[in-house]
Amino acid sequence: MSKYKIALLDGDGIGPEIMVEAVKVLKLVEARNPGVEFELIHSPFGASAYFECGDPFPEKTRQICDEADAILKGPIGLSHEESKKIPVDKQPERGALLPLRRRYNTYANFRPVFLPQGLAHFSPLKKEIIGNGIDIMIIRELVGGLYFGEKQTGVTPDGVRFVREMLEYDEVQIRRIAKVAFDTAMKRKKVLHNIHKSNVLKSSVLWNDVMEEVAKDYPEVKVIHILVDAAATYLCLNPGQFDVMVMENMFGDILSDQGGGILGSLGLMPSACVGDKKAYYEPSHGSAPDIAGKNIANPYSMIGSVAMMLEMSFGMDKEAKNVWHAMQSVFAQGYSTPDLSKPGAGVKMIDTSSFGNLVVEELRKLPV
Ligand code: NAD
Ligand code: IPM
Ligand code: MN
Repeated sequence: MSKYKIALLDGDGIGPEIMVEAVKVLKLVEARNPGVEFELIHSPFGASAYFECGDPFPEKTRQICDEADAILKGPIGLSHEESKKIPVDKQPERGALLPLRRRYNTYANFRPVFLPQGLAHFSPLKKEIIGNGIDIMIIRELVGGLYFGEKQTGVTPDGVRFVREMLEYDEVQIRRIAKVAFDTAMKRKKVLHNIHKSNVLKSSVLWNDVMEEVAKDYPEVKVIHILVDAAATYLCLNPGQFDVMVMENMFGDILSDQGGGILGSLGLMPSACVGDKKAYYEPSHGSAPDIAGKNIANPYSMIGSVAMMLEMSFGMDKEAKNVWHAMQSVFAQGYSTPDLSKPGAGVKMIDTSSFGNLVVEELRKLPV
């Protein structure tokens, strides 16, 4: 019997709504796999935790996460206006999410950008651009760069307010994410796009040097270097050229949201945040305050994060594939959540909980 403790951080906005659907799937996976037991522990995290106990990442939650075998996290954050009700350093991004990433040193962020050909109608791109579908793995460095560099704000002797934020990387940080990217490329098409800005940033010069050094250990992998601005265009004009893409933290934040854009919705973007000792799983998107509380969010990103957890933390590769398959067959039957289709577009529009229920129904049909 394998027993796994999973910390569930519901988060803010649509977080709790999509977590409910993820838990339905986890419970079914447990029921269908007699050798596996999940202990699910909900813990406060994010703005909701701040309002509950004054800390967006409370000590109680830290302990639960420390003891957990894996962490499943919903999105955190408030609308621009609501955020102002929380002191800057306690806001959930700076006060909870970055500390979570730092605590477990989850340096490798896997953000799959995936749309099978049969679901091409969800994408804003033309059918001929999508071709056989979109299948890209964005690998984002997650604990370095501008996000974690030294910060300073102040006023010059002339009374001008200024801010300074350091973009820092060392070769150890770059080498470890490079290895993750090359290992991933070896398991896929052996093509790696290295995204950089070495025409301006010295950090990208070091980044590229280390990429080239690591490349020597992977002679079978073809490495293609692309400037980040051009990469943004190519993602729209010719996504089929990409298989694995690797980039620093900030570039990865932006390009992965563009990945959601070419699929048709951020609701299709799950992710895995992996360190050497601990991994946590979360949708790539935010708390979507504009649709929170309406039961219309797309839970695919959250359930996809469960699939990534099953594979990457528990070695349940087949069941992970089954979960992906179940979600895609719900869409293939003509169902859609409102983020992906306009009403009257010939789709059967469903809400958050119906999507979860249908996924559960489909999963039940698949052999373990
Ligand atoms: P967002 O990702 O929350 O929303 C952008 C757009 O995508 C919105 O129109 C939203 O409705 C839509 N969307 C996102 N997820 C969806 C889903 N599952 N189903 C249907 N539609 C979906 O970005 P934002 O509005 O810029 O940010 C809101 C808050 O989320 C901010 O406080 C931000 O800091 C935070 N945030 C948190 C995370 C995280 O927890 N990892 C990630 C990104 C943003
Ligand atoms: C993401 C989010 C976070 C990031 C924010 C909320 C700090 O946008 O996970 O993509 O920028 O990393
Ligand atoms: Mn982001």
